[in-house]
Amino acid sequence: MFQDSDYQTQIDAEISDNVQNLEIDPYRLDYHLMPPVGLLNDPNGLIKLNGTYHVFFQWNPFETTHGKKAWGHYTSSDLINWTLEPAALVPDAWYDKNGCYSGSAIEHDGKMYLFYTGNVKDDEDRRSTYQCMAVSNDGIHFEKKGPVLHLPDGYTPHFRDPKVWKTDGQWLMILGAQNEQGHGEAVIAASENLVDWDFIGPIAGSNINNLGDFGYMWECPDLFELDGRDILIVCPQGLEADGDKYHNLFQAGYFTGAFDSSMYTYSHEDFTELDRGFDFYAPQTFIDEAGRRILLAWMGITDDDEQDQPTIGRDWIHGLTIPRVLEMKGDRVIQTPAPELQKLRYERVSHAVMLNPETSFHAGIEPLSEISVEFKNDIMDGFELVLRNDVKVIYDGQRFIIERRKFSGEGREQRAFQLEQLANLRIFLDRSSVEIFINGGEEVCSSRFFPEVDERNIELKAHGAVQCEMNVWNLKE
Ligand code: FRU
Repeated sequence: MFQDSDYQTQIDAEISDNVQNLEIDPYRLDYHLMPPVGLLNDPNGLIKLNGTYHVFFQWNPFETTHGKKAWGHYTSSDLINWTLEPAALVPDAWYDKNGCYSGSAIEHDGKMYLFYTGNVKDDEDRRSTYQCMAVSNDGIHFEKKGPVLHLPDGYTPHFRDPKVWKTDGQWLMILGAQNEQGHGEAVIAASENLVDWDFIGPIAGSNINNLGDFGYMWECPDLFELDGRDILIVCPQGLEADGDKYHNLFQAGYFTGAFDSSMYTYSHEDFTELDRGFDFYAPQTFIDEAGRRILLAWMGITDDDEQDQPTIGRDWIHGLTIPRVLEMKGDRVIQTPAPELQKLRYERVSHAVMLNPETSFHAGIEPLSEISVEFKNDIMDGFELVLRNDVKVIYDGQRFIIERRKFSGEGREQRAFQLEQLANLRIFLDRSSVEIFINGGEEVCSSRFFPEVDERNIELKAHGAVQCEMNVWNLKE
C-alpha cells in the first residue's frame, strides 16, 4: 500500500497557509531541524544511505498538540543543508490509524526499511500496538507492509519504538515496553529475514539486573557498540526526582554495559542522564559511512508547560538538537557537536576576559552564534554567564546550574549537576535554543528559551578572579 496522496496534499496546503505566519516568527530556528508547521517530537529512522543523511521525525502537521503522528522526512548531504521530503509514513492504515509512532531505519539489499509502531485507539480510547514495516527503493517513497510483530503476552499496549540492527548475522529489534506488573523494560525480538520476528524478552528494565524500581514505562531504546562497550539508551518514565537528578518530567539517559547477542543478556552499570538541560528527549543514534556514531534528540519534552511556548501562536512547536558525535571516555559517553557545523561560522571575535568581583564583561552576540570559553584558571567560587538576558549558567566550583525564564514568562527555573572542574564551554545559540557542551562534551545542557527579540548581550561575571579566552562566531543564516 502506498501513501495516501490526499494526506500529502493537505500537508502542502497547511504549509502554504502558514508560510507568512512562520516567516515573521523571530523564534523560528535556523540550523536546527524543526517542523515545517505543526508539532515535531522524536527523531526517527536516522540513517546515512548512498551519501544522503535521512532524518525522519514524529510530526503532527495540523496541530501543535500530540495527535496522530506522521513521519516527516528531511534529507541532507552535509548535516547542515536540509531538504524537506514528502511525509514518509502517514496514519492511513487500520494498524496505524492513530499514529505512525517512533521507529528506525535500516538498509538491506539496496532498499531502505522502516520499522515503526502503529498506534491504534478504539472508540473507548483503548490502545493497540503493532510493530510495522515499510520498504522503499528510492529512500523517499515507502510501501507499507503492515505489522511484523504483535503484542506478546505479559505486556500492556505501551509497547513501541522498534530500533532494528544487525549483529552476528541476525536482525535484532529492541523496543520500549511496560510489563503487566507496570514496570518499564527494554525488550528484544530477533529475525532471520526482517519479516518473521520472534519475541525474546527483556534485557533490562525496572526491577531487572538489580536496578530496583526504575519507572513504569521505558520509551525509545537504542543499543549499540561504542569503543568496545555496549551502550543502552532508554527514556524511563516515572522516575522520582533524586537530588539534582531526574527533574524533567521524563528522563533520557544510558547504561554502559556488555550485551551477549547469543544469550540475549545485558549486564550494565548505573543509569546516567545524557543531557542536563530542560529540553532533551527520545535520542536516537546511527552510524555513518565514516564509522561515526551520531546522535540527534528531540529538543523538547512532553510536559504541561509545552503549550506555553510562544511559537504555538505561529502554528509550530519544537525542534531537534544539533547532530552530536558520541565517543567513550572511561565509562562515560562524551558528546561533541558534529564538526560539519563549523562550516556555519563566518566571522569570529576573540576576547581575552579578566573577571574579578568589580569587573564584569559585556559584549553583543547575534541570535545565531557559537561561543567558546576556555578557562585559564580553576574557578573556586561563583562564575556566571548570561545569554540574551534570559539563560544563565552558574558554576560555583562544585555545581553547574542552568537557569532560564519559564515559558509562561513568570519566574525562573533551574537544572543542576555536580561538576568537579570547569575547563571549557562550547555554546550553540539558535534563535530560541541553546546547547552547552561542557569540558569537551562530558556534560551537555540543551534548552529552548524565548528571549526578548532585541536582547543581544552576553555577560560574564565572577566572585573571584577568573581569566578566560572567549571566541564568538557569528553563524550563517
Ligand atoms: C516519545 C514517544 C514515543 C512514541 C512517540 C509518539 O516521545 O512517546 O514513545 O512512539 O513519542 O509520538
